[in-house]
Amino acid sequence: MTLACSQQTHSDALEQFRHIFQERSTSPTTIRHAINVLRYIITVIGRKHKSRRDQAVPISKAKPSRQRGPIGQFFKMGNEESSPIDESVPPQTLSSRTLEGLAEYIKSGKASKIVVMTGAGISTSAGIPDFRSPETGLYANLARLNLPYAEAVFDISFFKQNPEPFYTLAHELYPGKYRPTITHSFIRLLHDKGLLLKLFTQNIDCLEREAGVPDDKIVEAHGSFARQSCIECKHPYPEDDIKRHIAAKEIPRCHECQGLVKPEIVFFGEQLPQAFFESRMLPAQSDLCVVMGTSLTVQPFASLPDATRGRTPRVLINKERVGGLGNGTDDVLLLGDCDDGVKKLAEACGWLEELKKLWAETAGVGKDEAESAPSGAPGGAPDGAPVGPAKSKDEVLEDEIEKLTKEVDETLTLSKWHEEKVRGEIMPKPADGADAAASDVLRPHSQPHADEKGNLGHVFVSEASKEAPPPPSSSAEQTPKEKDES
Ligand code: OAD
Repeated sequence: MTLACSQQTHSDALEQFRHIFQERSTSPTTIRHAINVLRYIITVIGRKHKSRRDQAVPISKAKPSRQRGPIGQFFKMGNEESSPIDESVPPQTLSSRTLEGLAEYIKSGKASKIVVMTGAGISTSAGIPDFRSPETGLYANLARLNLPYAEAVFDISFFKQNPEPFYTLAHELYPGKYRPTITHSFIRLLHDKGLLLKLFTQNIDCLEREAGVPDDKIVEAHGSFARQSCIECKHPYPEDDIKRHIAAKEIPRCHECQGLVKPEIVFFGEQLPQAFFESRMLPAQSDLCVVMGTSLTVQPFASLPDATRGRTPRVLINKERVGGLGNGTDDVLLLGDCDDGVKKLAEACGWLEELKKLWAETAGVGKDEAESAPSGAPGGAPDGAPVGPAKSKDEVLEDEIEKLTKEVDETLTLSKWHEEKVRGEIMPKPADGADAAASDVLRPHSQPHADEKGNLGHVFVSEASKEAPPPPSSSAEQTPKEKDES
């Protein structure tokens, strides 16, 4: 019997393996072959599981677990619905699951290795909308445009077809316009006090750096605008050039191969940076975990809080309860605005004046482009002014979103043909569903999946649209590769 391992599927191999051992006359040579087959199966299965642990996947694909431990060992729903711990269960580490209990723990010096995990909610008071807040979030507002789905703006396949929506957004989001919030300064304060082990951020606005948190303390899990490169030949692209293009609302092209240039933000369809995987065990070494301004809906980031040890206190400072925070014996929930939350925590620790001073130092940040900063945003607040913008936060966000969507509306030129092409060719088809789950990429939460509802009919391209004429010429020229593909 010949065993051609390399050409076999797993099930073929398994079947052959079973067959060999059912045969009484199996020779030693065949047994050796069989062992090779077994090794092959173990390697393939092992690789498949490893890739699943390491890759970003939508929350709906993650395997729920109530345990805490290193990422990869336990995988948990980020925004899992679960009931908070029973009040009668005593905390194991804190004196109480309250702000005071937390402050006492910090002041006692027991929290000397703090991991902080943040998302878009910590930048909303700077005037940058978050993604998923129902009224004000970026996705809710982009959804009313002709994008096939809101997160397409950060989808690598969509970007290759039509980079304009992303660059329209980039014009608004590009660092330099916004002042860090007092929450960013709170993270800086933790660093200044020697307490910050690592900041894991999903944000691409670089406001942590602007607040003075050093590079080596930051893991930008979803990349950032700090670097940019060609998506084809990967050649780095000069910062001055991309700044000029983004300011002029032009789409930059690689100087080497004319490919599309993209800031090194992790798009859906791309892998997270190496730095994330190198640092993801740090939560297990921490003695306090602070989660702020995130819905914890995108994996693997969403699993970070569960990579802490069981007795490690975790505090959630967020408008809503997310990710099973509140289930642990030493979880503290400070629900509400995160700027308010960090001020309360700083006050309880006796750090409020220091925090205000640090934040006041950031008053100049973003002033270069003050005219394009949202009016009333904290970027324009004078030193020492009371925390909070002149306009209400909702008003600031509404203004900003109105401006943003108007610009996107003006720039976006998705034809019906293009929309249908994208729906037909980019959206995953049912047969792809299972493989895509294990694939090596970041994928959006809200993008429909074949196996979620079992119905993707509404996003499939019709036969008629397949024969439709090519799209009108876009400002982005096709690369030779794209031309070949089309
Ligand atoms: P989301 O918009 O999903 O979640 C923001 C969270 O912050 C929500 O729970 C809000 O209730 C909360 N929030 C908003 N403003 C707040 C405030 N002032 N104070 C306290 N809480 C506030 O943003 P992320 O969790 O960051 O990925 O989203 C994760 C990822 O999804 C992003 O990195 C982005 C997106 O798709 C990519 O683009 C690759």
